[in-house]
Amino acid sequence: MGEPTRDQLKAARPDNAEDREELQNVRDQIAFYEAAYRDGDSDLTDGAFDELQDRYQELADSLQIPQEDRLDRTPGADHTDGFVQREHRMPMLSLEKLTPNRRDTHGESVPIAEQLTHWYTRRRKDLEIPEDALPLLVEPKIDGISVSLLYVDGALSRAVTRGDGKKGDDITRQVKAAKAVPAKLKGVGGTLEIRGELYWPNHAWEAWNKKLEEAGEKLVTNPRNGCAGLMKRKDPKGLHKAGIRSFLYQVPWVEGVTLPPTQSEVLAWLAQAGADVYLDEIRVCATAQEALAYCGGYNERRASLPYEIDGMVIKLDELRHYGQLEGTGHHPHWAVAYKFAPERKPTKLLGIAVQVGKSGKLTPVAELEPVFVSGTTVSRASLHNFVELARKDVRVGDTVYVEKAGEIIPQVVGVELSERVPSSVSFVRPTVCPTCETGVLEEEIFVYCPNPACPDQVRERLRHFASRAAMDIDGLGASTVDQVVDQLAVRSPVDLFNMQRDGLIGLERMADKSVDNLLAGLEAAKGRGLTRVLIGLAIRHVGTTMAEDLTRYFGSAEAMLDFAGRYASGDQEVIERVGPDKGSGAIEGMARKSADSIFTELNSATLREVFAGLGEAGVKLLAVTAAIEAVEGIAGKTFVITGTLPTLKRTEAAEKIKSAGGKVSGSVSKKTDFVLAGVDAGSKLAKAQKLEVTVIDEAALFEMLKATPSDPE
Ligand code: IVH
Repeated sequence: MGEPTRDQLKAARPDNAEDREELQNVRDQIAFYEAAYRDGDSDLTDGAFDELQDRYQELADSLQIPQEDRLDRTPGADHTDGFVQREHRMPMLSLEKLTPNRRDTHGESVPIAEQLTHWYTRRRKDLEIPEDALPLLVEPKIDGISVSLLYVDGALSRAVTRGDGKKGDDITRQVKAAKAVPAKLKGVGGTLEIRGELYWPNHAWEAWNKKLEEAGEKLVTNPRNGCAGLMKRKDPKGLHKAGIRSFLYQVPWVEGVTLPPTQSEVLAWLAQAGADVYLDEIRVCATAQEALAYCGGYNERRASLPYEIDGMVIKLDELRHYGQLEGTGHHPHWAVAYKFAPERKPTKLLGIAVQVGKSGKLTPVAELEPVFVSGTTVSRASLHNFVELARKDVRVGDTVYVEKAGEIIPQVVGVELSERVPSSVSFVRPTVCPTCETGVLEEEIFVYCPNPACPDQVRERLRHFASRAAMDIDGLGASTVDQVVDQLAVRSPVDLFNMQRDGLIGLERMADKSVDNLLAGLEAAKGRGLTRVLIGLAIRHVGTTMAEDLTRYFGSAEAMLDFAGRYASGDQEVIERVGPDKGSGAIEGMARKSADSIFTELNSATLREVFAGLGEAGVKLLAVTAAIEAVEGIAGKTFVITGTLPTLKRTEAAEKIKSAGGKVSGSVSKKTDFVLAGVDAGSKLAKAQKLEVTVIDEAALFEMLKATPSDPE
C-alpha cells in the first residue's frame, strides 16, 4: 500500500528520455564492471553481467540505435587458469527471455502474456500442432551456475562448467568434494549426461558468512558468486561444509538408457535416481494461459523459498518435439525463460552522497541501510540527478523503495510518505564541488564541477581512458588507476604512458608479472588509433559515434586540431562548413552547439598538451581501419541486419560486410540493398518485404563472401 507504481514514478517524463538516460547509465556500468573484472575486484555475478548486456541490447533496440554504434557483446567465458577445459558434446546454450519491461520498436510496452502467446503460437506453427494440444512444463529458474554431469554405469565421472558454451572447466573434484550432486544414481546404468544448476541455499550461505565474520574475514557478498568461487577452489578439501546444492533438470543425451517421453516424467525419474528435483515446484500446464498464471502466482512464493530464483522456465513437455525444433546458436526453441518484475524492497535512507564523474558531472547517490535485493546486499543506489531527486522529494531519514533496473543497477524508485518522520531532512543541491570546493556550473538538468584538476575527475577520467570501451589498457583496472594517481602522481593520460617500471614495482599487489602485463598493455594500447583516443579523452558530446565521425573526417589529430584552432578563432570559412542543414557528413551534419563545445575543448591548452604528449609517447593519432578487401556483390552495397543469426553475432556479421567493402545501416529504406534476417526478425523484415528489398539469411551471406575479390579501382 502506498507504494508508487512504475508508471506513476515515470509520469511527467517522456519514455524516450528515461530510456536514453538508462542506456547511458547501463553503458557506463558495463565499462565499469569490465574494468573491475580485469582487476579482479568485481562483485557482480556473470549472470548479472549478462543481464546488464541484455538490458543494454533491449534499450538499444527500443531506441533503434544502429548495430554499428553499439557496444560489442563479448560472452563472459569463465575459464580459470589451472582448470582443464572439456568440450561439451552439445553446446550449452542460453534461454530466450520473456520480460515484464519489453518495449516494441515504437516504445510501447508489450505485456508478458502477449510475449508468451507469441512464443507458444510460433511453436505450434513450427510443429503443426492444433490449438492447445501442446502441453507445457513450468520449472523454477534457479540463479546458480550451470553444470554438465557425466554418469557412467550410475557413477558420477565428470562435472564441467558451462564456460563459453562450447567448452567449460573440469570441476569434477570440487563437485564431488562438495557433495552437491549424487555420486551414484540409483538404478540407472548406461552412460548419460545430466545438466543442472549448482547453487548455494540462502541459509547455508548465511551460516558460512557468519563463520567468516567471527574469523574477521571478508564476507561473500552474494550466493551465486560465492558458489562459483567455491567450485573453482584449487583445493576442494572441506567443501562439503559449505552446503552447496543442485537442481538437475535436463538429460540431453543417453546411451544404453531409455528415457521417459516427457520432461515432467524425466524429472520424476531423476528424483527416483536420487537427484535433487523440485517436484513440488513444477507444474504441467495444458495452455499458455495456465503456464502464465502459474508463473505469476509463483512470484509470491519467491521470497519464502530457501534459494534464489530469477524467474521460471517454460518448456515443451513432450521430448519428441525437441529434435523437431531448430533453435538458434544462442537458445533452443523448446524452452523460454519467464522473468519476474524486479524485486522492490523498503529501506532507510541514511544519507545522500554526491559523486563526481569523469566530465565533472555531480550525481546524487543514496546511502542506504543495507538491504538484500535481487541477489545482492545493496547499500548504495542511484538517485539519477538533482531534478529527479527534487521531484521524488527524497529526504534523508525517509523510508525509500529500492529496486534494480534490469535487476542490475540499484536505484531508489520512490518514498513511503506514510512513514516520513519529522526529523527527515530535504536535500540541498550543492553549490560547490564536494571534492575540490570549486563553484558548480548548471547545464539543463545537470550540475558540473568545472575544475578539470578536481581529484575525483582526474581519477574517473583515467579509469575511463583505460577502459575496454576506450583504450582497453590491459592490466590497468580501477584500483590500479587509483594507486597510480595516489602514489605516482599520474594526472593525465600522457603520464600513464610515461610510467616507469621502478615506480610500478613499488605498488601494492604489483608483482613483476603484473608490472610486465601492465607495460605490455600500455604498449599495445598505443596502436589503437585516433577513434579510441577520442573516446578515451571523455570530451563532452564525443561518444563512440562522434569519435568515429571525427576520425573519418579528419584522418589525423593534427588535421582535427588545425580545424579546431581555426574554428575557435572565428575563421568563417571553417565555421560555415558546420551545420545540420549542410548535409549529413560528420562535420556538415553537426549541431552548432555540439560543434562549439567540441572544437573549443579540442582547442584548449590542456587538450593540445595531451595530444602533443601522447604523440611524443608514441601513441598513434591517426585513423586505424580494418583492411578492406572489396568483394564483388557486397562492395558498395548497403545491408541491414535484423534478428538473431544462427552462428554470427550481428556485430560480427557487420564486420564481415564492412571488411568486404559493404555498408551496414540501422534502418531499412529504398536505398537498402539487402536485409540479412535471422530468427525473430521483427519490423525491419516486414518493412523490407513491403519495399521489396532482397532478404538473405546467414548462409547466403557466407556464399556472397566467398565470391572472388573484385579488382580495386
Ligand atoms: S533449461 C538451453 N531449466 O538458466 C538451456 N535452465 O538463462 C536450457 N537455468 O543456462 C536450460 N534453471 O543455467 C533450464 N529449470 C531450468 C533452469 C535453467 C536455471 C539456467 C541454466 C541456463 C540459464 C539460461
